[in-house]
Amino acid sequence: MNPTDVLNEIAAQVRRCEDCQLHFSRKLAVPGEGPSNSELMFIGEGPGFHENEQGRPFVGQAGKFLDELLEVAGFQRQQVFIANVVKCRPPGNRDPLPEELAACSSYLDRQIEAINPSVIVTLGRFSMAKYLPSARISDVHGKTFWVHERLIVPMFHPAAALHQPSLKNLVIQDFRKLPEAIQTAKTARAKMITSMKRTSSEDPKAEEKTEDAPEQLSLF
Ligand code: URA
Ligand code: SF4
Repeated sequence: MNPTDVLNEIAAQVRRCEDCQLHFSRKLAVPGEGPSNSELMFIGEGPGFHENEQGRPFVGQAGKFLDELLEVAGFQRQQVFIANVVKCRPPGNRDPLPEELAACSSYLDRQIEAINPSVIVTLGRFSMAKYLPSARISDVHGKTFWVHERLIVPMFHPAAALHQPSLKNLVIQDFRKLPEAIQTAKTARAKMITSMKRTSSEDPKAEEKTEDAPEQLSLF
């Protein structure tokens, strides 16, 4: 199956999923959307009121601000993939529970695998915790971390930043640095692939070393 078909299949499974209690109260599940070959992927928390009504991610107030932030980074929404750690709305926009995050995680993991983005921007603490479980957002926002051969960039959640002027400026500054992070990630990944090809044709044992991508290396 090609990546687009894989994503469509995952979305179909999400829409009929009953793997956690959030399916009882949802109107529409929100699988996420964007091109299957996006270099850049965003992971938010979960659908809010408007997302639950429309079945699409980040279409409310926070979504409008995300569109502005994307523009700051030189992107249009249609160019990036946008998903969430839970695909159904937690009632009253409460935090997702550990068992809901666990039940939903394989959908997101399969989306990431199909898209294979160079850079993942986490929006808020629940998606950050997937990659940097002990980090504090106030310490690490806007920095870059290699995790499993992708560059992870934790950002403040647009909904939080929208209501706090001090965070708003920080998140705008962080988004301004995204093009540089993407370039860094693409170059590093291209080199990894070249060196893996070279070592695998020369010496099968040497491949083990290159597969060991540097973990959580901050580049900025
Ligand atoms: N907030 C999120 O985290 N995700 C959405 O899709 C919308 C708002
Ligand atoms: Fe299924 Fe995820 Fe929705 Fe729970 S939140 S019902 S695991 S799609």
